[in-house]
Amino acid sequence: MIKLIERRKLSHINICLEENVQARNVSTGFEDVFLVHRALPEISIKEVDTSTEFFDHRFSAPILIESMTGGVREAAKINATLAEAAEIIGLPLGIGSQRAAIENSSLAYTYKIARDKAPNTFLIANLGGAQLTRGYGLTEAQKAVDMIDADALALHLNPLQEAVQPEGERNYGKALPRIKKITEALSVPIIIKETGAGIAAEEAKMIEDVGVKGIDVSGTGGTSWAAVECYRAKELKDRLREKLGESFWDWGIPTAVSVVETHLSTKLKVIASGGVRTGIDAAKAIALGADVAGLALPLLKPALEGTEKVIETLQTLIEELKIAMFLTGSKTIDDLKNSSVVIIGKTAEWLRARGFDIESYARRRRI
Ligand SMILES: Cc1cc2nc3c(=O)[nH]c(=O)nc-3n(C[C@H](O)[C@H](O)[C@H](O)COP(=O)(O)O)c2cc1C
Repeated sequence: MIKLIERRKLSHINICLEENVQARNVSTGFEDVFLVHRALPEISIKEVDTSTEFFDHRFSAPILIESMTGGVREAAKINATLAEAAEIIGLPLGIGSQRAAIENSSLAYTYKIARDKAPNTFLIANLGGAQLTRGYGLTEAQKAVDMIDADALALHLNPLQEAVQPEGERNYGKALPRIKKITEALSVPIIIKETGAGIAAEEAKMIEDVGVKGIDVSGTGGTSWAAVECYRAKELKDRLREKLGESFWDWGIPTAVSVVETHLSTKLKVIASGGVRTGIDAAKAIALGADVAGLALPLLKPALEGTEKVIETLQTLIEELKIAMFLTGSKTIDDLKNSSVVIIGKTAEWLRARGFDIESYARRRRI
């Protein structure tokens, strides 16, 4: 079983590096979201401050390096590089699911290295919701947090991946009461995150009601775990799972939709991830109500190339965010949150059909 987890981790990394694992016929919805350009921004770009506060920590920009890996030797290098970059730039970092190290403590070093390389960074521990239904609880959650001296714990929900993957856990019953128990006693705040299929308003409310403090929507439009599992099933010559991966490749709630749904229906801190590829996407997500925008896949290859590459990728993103702030006359992230946004097309149709008042976004600046 342990070797199986390690092999699977490695296979996930390799597939993500070599194949097209992103959504194919659906997108994040950010192409339907427009920040209203200001021909007279009335500020200097030098006044633009991208720094922000999140869970009582100050970051240089509202950008999260999303949970990716751990549990295999190759993952230690990825986590080390991401951590070095996070520490230098001053950004938060999530690590991958720690289940492998909970079940085999000799693998803990592949995660701990993140704390070694990033002593001052806001680090997010990670465990899977599917494991909760198998009996994981407060003990395992606290172990994961202590392993890396984490500042928060992300519990990831991945029913889509579990349903289509060859050895998936298809029982997602009674996860919520277990999440509640953990939130009541864990030493750090809990963030519930999806893994590429988004979170709807109803689930966001259920999550808020059990005492969770943050939500990472990880919506559709970026990495698709049905796609990753489709490639794995192909390798394993599992025809059924390959077909399931194909069929569900684009399943889920687009990221822009999920940000609006969770923001307008709860008071939770919202992280926008799933297909965030530019600083403009990040700016749009923040204007829609997210506190932070996160990305995973675009940092995987740079992480294997070295710290400089990760820094370069992130700094480009931050520069794009800065220019988008300048062009909307936003000196601060709070200003950006209050800037006008127009939502059109399918994204607008979806949100209206679900009863959300999207016109209020467009009416933020009075004429
Ligand atoms: C190689 C890889 C491994 C991942 N492993 C995890 C994981 O262990 N735990 C988790 O919560 N999310 C994991 N994710 C999901 C990401 O955190 C993120 O939610 C998702 O990929 C969407 O962002 P993206 O489109 O920018 O990749 C992983 C993503 C990638 C690309």
